[in-house]
Amino acid sequence: MMPIGPMMIEHRLIERMIKVMDAKTVKMKKGRKADPAFIETAVDFIRTYADRCHHGKEEDILFRELKKKTISQEHQKIMEELIEEHKEGRRITGKLVEANERYLAGDSKALEDIVQCLQTLVDFYPRHIEKEDKHFFIPVMKYFSKDEQDAMLKEGYEFDQGLIHEKYRHAVERGEKNG
Ligand SMILES: [Fe+2]
Ligand SMILES: [Fe+2]
Repeated sequence: MMPIGPMMIEHRLIERMIKVMDAKTVKMKKGRKADPAFIETAVDFIRTYADRCHHGKEEDILFRELKKKTISQEHQKIMEELIEEHKEGRRITGKLVEANERYLAGDSKALEDIVQCLQTLVDFYPRHIEKEDKHFFIPVMKYFSKDEQDAMLKEGYEFDQGLIHEKYRHAVERGEKNG
């Protein structure tokens, strides 16, 4: 398998979560009531799966290796856009967390911000994924030999293996810090 194989499979799960988020957003808007527990689940999915696990492999393995190669201007431009989009995703997710906290504290205006953040994410992710799937992942494979591709695939598996341990180590460390 090419190193982009697992990443494309991950895209399919992210798309499914985006559909769930879309439906939940419509429901929250209609019912004029947020669903803080779902928002927490969605934020965990985005931060742990979409950002740390998935964008992590893109940035820490694929993009890192591409930066060592001489790539076309077009691919360079797309890679820079993708990195910026990852940053934007993190920013909106942070805003969503903050709006959810305000909602839980009784701020009546927070619902509007929650809906807006969710809608932005629902709109943003499919376009980001399409850009990678259709215009980047496959064309940039040509810069790598079979051995280089195999090494990236292996590194991706090792990267994934460490994540669950990292997530719960951080949870314990946070608990220890906050007493
Ligand atoms: Fe990405
Ligand atoms: Fe991606």
